Amino acid sequence: MIICSCNVLSDQDVRSAVEAERTRSISQVYGCLGCSAQCGRCARTIRRLMDEALNSARAASCNGCPPSSQ
Ligand code: FES
Repeated sequence: MIICSCNVLSDQDVRSAVEAERTRSISQVYGCLGCSAQCGRCARTIRRLMDEALNSARAASCNGCPPSSQ
């Protein structure tokens, strides 16, 4: 699905950039994909995809960890 109509970026493009480059900011995602923010309407969606990817990676890395005592 296209999430950035200005740069024609799909959700998969963003997920790939986040996973491959460990991007920490939205501007890094744009840069990694060879573009830059134009109107900014997609920023919230990109942030959400970054958070999902981070949470997914966190969950995967904690697979098999003993439960926290907190
Ligand atoms: S929709 Fe992404 S910069 Fe405009």
